[in-house]
Amino acid sequence: MPDFVGIVLAAGQGTRMKSTKPKVLHEIAGRPLAAWTVQAALDAGASRCVVVVGHGREEVEATLRARFGERVQFAHQAEQLGTGHAVRCAVEAELQEGEGHAVVLYGDCPAIHPETLERLVAAAEGFPFALITASLANPKGYGRILRNDAGNVVGIREDKDCSAEERAIREVNPGLYAIELGFLREALGKLDANNAQGELYLTDLAEMAAGTPRGVVDVPGDMGELRGINDRWELSVVGRTLRERILERLARSGVGIVDPATTFVDADCEVEADATIAPGVHLRGRCVVRAGARIDVGCVLEDVEVAPGAWLKPYTVAAESQVGRDAQVGPFAHLRPKSDLGEGSKVGNFCETKKTRIGKGSKVNHLAYVGDGMIGERVNIGAGVIFCNYDGVQKHVTTLEDDVFIGSDSQLVAPVTIGAGAYVGSGSTITGDVPADALAIARVRKQTVKEGFASRLRERFAAAKKAKAEE
Ligand code: UD1
Ligand code: CA
Repeated sequence: MPDFVGIVLAAGQGTRMKSTKPKVLHEIAGRPLAAWTVQAALDAGASRCVVVVGHGREEVEATLRARFGERVQFAHQAEQLGTGHAVRCAVEAELQEGEGHAVVLYGDCPAIHPETLERLVAAAEGFPFALITASLANPKGYGRILRNDAGNVVGIREDKDCSAEERAIREVNPGLYAIELGFLREALGKLDANNAQGELYLTDLAEMAAGTPRGVVDVPGDMGELRGINDRWELSVVGRTLRERILERLARSGVGIVDPATTFVDADCEVEADATIAPGVHLRGRCVVRAGARIDVGCVLEDVEVAPGAWLKPYTVAAESQVGRDAQVGPFAHLRPKSDLGEGSKVGNFCETKKTRIGKGSKVNHLAYVGDGMIGERVNIGAGVIFCNYDGVQKHVTTLEDDVFIGSDSQLVAPVTIGAGAYVGSGSTITGDVPADALAIARVRKQTVKEGFASRLRERFAAAKKAKAEE
């Protein structure tokens, strides 16, 4: 495969999105549109990508640089004077030297397959200008492909510049080109804005190339992957295609996807063979789900790592956390950032964890809050236990050593340490450290029992109610 550079045009505002966010930063499956396009070019073998930025320039640059580092460079197009002008900006900034081809892609066309780009580059060898073409039942809005009697491409006519006859042409320009750099540098200088939109059209290069001895070569493409996104509905429709593509890839690699229609897995997540994902699950960001793990109905995970054999029961919500081997979470559990659940541990229903390490085999099974905790192995935390980690100013750590037992409805006021094997009686408010193997009970007062008092109490309440009604 010959060496080539990618040029991605991403300077436009995308007015029809009706959004303050630049169009190319709208996301599909957790990836901005421009990142899909750049990724496709790099996957196809581009040595680097020059991205032309304008609207929302700082944000677009920062987003792409964070993802692609040195593999992307940026050219600034201060005013959007057309696609030809945009490519001129890229050439002036980064492509004054070098041979070979540049592949030009529009940043709003995220579904392109790297293989299609590879076919384009292969076909372009020896030609100044190669493009993909496709046919559409309704070609409105697209540039039309003009051919001569011999069937060769001789130009592209923009929709707004078409004669009635040209407008009937159904073969369109999806906007993907491989252009020889030498030809490109020369031809860009000859563009003019004599057209309906008063812009410098990149598409005019087709006619110029057709006038050279070697001419234009075209590669047939499929609109299914070539659709540009102009408004939010098109974003939704292309989004469905891309998400389905992710799910198909996972399923064919051995992941159980029960219902593709209600399963959402972001592009940068990793799911190993033999993991199962139930309906209504969202895996966002960079989740990793290992073999044999089970993500049950309605779970929403972002940047979570799930070890082999773990089971996230229905409606678990988790972020930036780790779930250890064979651990069980939920139903209805909330793992907030930096929760680290050890092997075989359990976090049960209506529990919330945050910045807490839970050791091997430890259990937090019912209605508890554990925040800023260091929990050893085989610890049992009863129903309704609260780690009081916040004094209104600072967060403090609660440490439970191995084999600790915390009775239900206790509060542990941090900073506090409970020594190995110690036992805290139910309903205690623990404010000081407990040594290993001790029993700590801290209730407000001892229990008092008044025999026969309950019915007297009820009579008193009933009388008060009656008196009130007679007022
Ligand atoms: C363009 C093509 C048209 C093709 C269609 C496919 C031209 C002249 N027309 O039309 O033949 O059928 O795409 O979708 O190329 N951009 C810049 N700077 C500019 C102008 C545009 O960076 O000055 C970027 C936009 O952000 C966008 C891309 O180029 O990502 C395409 O621009 P757009 O205005 O959408 O072109 P179309 O009118 O759709
Ligand atoms: Ca467009």
